[in-house]
This record gives sequence, structure tokens and C-alpha cells, in this order.
Amino acid sequence: MSRRPVGIFDSGLGGLSVAREVHDDLPAEDLLYLADTAYLPYGDRSAEWVRGRTLAAGRWLEEEGAKVLVVACNTASAAALETLREHLAIPVVGLEPAVKPAAAATRNGRVGVLATAGTVRSARLQRLVESYAQGREVVLQGCPGLADAIEDGVLSGPELRARLEPYLEPLRRAGVDTVVLGCTHYVFVRDAIAAGLGPDVRLLDSGEAVARQTARVLEEQGLRETAGAGSIRFLTTGSAAEVGPVVARLWGAPLAVEEVAIPADPSQRPKAPMP
Ligand code: DGL
Repeated sequence: MSRRPVGIFDSGLGGLSVAREVHDDLPAEDLLYLADTAYLPYGDRSAEWVRGRTLAAGRWLEEEGAKVLVVACNTASAAALETLREHLAIPVVGLEPAVKPAAAATRNGRVGVLATAGTVRSARLQRLVESYAQGREVVLQGCPGLADAIEDGVLSGPELRARLEPYLEPLRRAGVDTVVLGCTHYVFVRDAIAAGLGPDVRLLDSGEAVARQTARVLEEQGLRETAGAGSIRFLTTGSAAEVGPVVARLWGAPLAVEEVAIPADPSQRPKAPMP
């Protein structure tokens, strides 16, 4: 059987937190990671925009030979999962904030969700809360600018604490005892979030669940690779020189970074002109 990679997609580098879990659970799989850095952040865009862009990225990964698409981005999953499943021939594994496990884990019935503005206002998150968090108080907290800071390599220190504070304060005030990291970028600043919320607050993310689901899907389709050591190929729509050092910090080892251009609709302009 020829080796085809697992496609992993995020607006930027946050999805590396998911790629790490997939790599740990499925060490023989080759990973093809696409960061749409030129268009980040998705969290401030309309759902329609995110849907179009995510579909373009998904199609691109499918054409590159991905055997499954892991959408390692809550914002893109919330906006585009149904569309991806409609238009792609490969299976699509989506991500959703860990509201269900958080509702089960809370002891005092108060749960916080930290996510992008796009995820916070999505119908998908509303449905998740209505279905699984009945009888719980759920505080949804958007964090504009946080993913961008992480993307720039702000992973600790006073600048990060200052950025986090306005988002953590409402959760402390509400007395939540369980907090969902509802954006894949936030996993990389888990320690700072934990320090800001205090030792009694439990933090949950969805990375492990997504890795398990990816393994299940590959198994079901007879596509799971078990022999050899998997590789990771990292692609960005942004600048390899800018992204490379942060990728190395987040992945814990340097990775070769390749630049790719993914054609956009005329309505979808990148934040900076493409080179
Ligand atoms: N990593 C993305 C998520 O999980 C969001 C980052 C962005 O705003 O582009 O929601």
C-alpha cells in the first residue's frame, strides 16, 4: 500500500498542538500540515469567509494526496465541517471545544470556554452547550488577539499575562472550576492560563480526542499505517523565515518549512500581499 499522509489544517500554528497528539498516537503516519498563516486570524472573520477559505485549503490537501483531513482549528470546524464533508471525497475529522467533558467534570456547575470570537458566536458551539451543558452555567469568553500573539511567539512573560488578563478575569469572577481551551493555539499557553486562573481550575482541550478519532477513522477505512516512522511536512501560506523559529519552539524541534500559495477568492484578501 502506498503511503499517503494525514492532512492537518489550521489557520496557523495552533494545530501543531493537535498534530503532536496525532503523531504520538499514530507514530507511523506521515503528517502533511498546512498553516494558512497569510490569512490568520480566522477568529475575526465571518463564518462565510472561513468556510470558503477552509474549503480551498481542504481541497488543496486532498489534491496533495492526503488520505484524511484533520481540521485542527475550532474556528474552521465550527464554520466549515459540513461543507468540507459535502465537497471532499476523503474523510474529515473535526474539532469541537471540550464542552461535553467539561460539563461532566465540573464540581460546582460553572464552566468557562476560551475561544476565538468566531467560535464563540458560532451556532455549532451554541448547539454543543445546549446539548451537553444543560443545568450548568457556561461562560463563553472570546479572546481577540490571543492567537496572533502566540503566532508571534509570545508564549510566556508579562506581555502574555497582560493579554490574557482581560479574558481570565471574567472567568475568575464567575467562579468557574473547569475551563475549556476552545482554540488550538491556547494549548501552547496552558501554563500561563493555569497560573492566571489558579490551582483549583481544571483545563481541558480536544487534542487527544481528535487523535483518537483520527485513529478510528483510519482503522475503519483500512488506511492506518503501522510500519516505519512517520514524517512531518510543514507548509505555510506565509513566510517560512518568519514562521520557522516559532514552529521549532512549538514542535520542540526544527522542521523544514515550505511556502505554498493557495488561490483565494477575490473576496478573500490575505492580511499582507502575497510574495
Ligand atoms: N487555531 C484556531 C482555533 O482553534 C484559531 C486561530 C485564528 O483565529 O485563526 O480556533
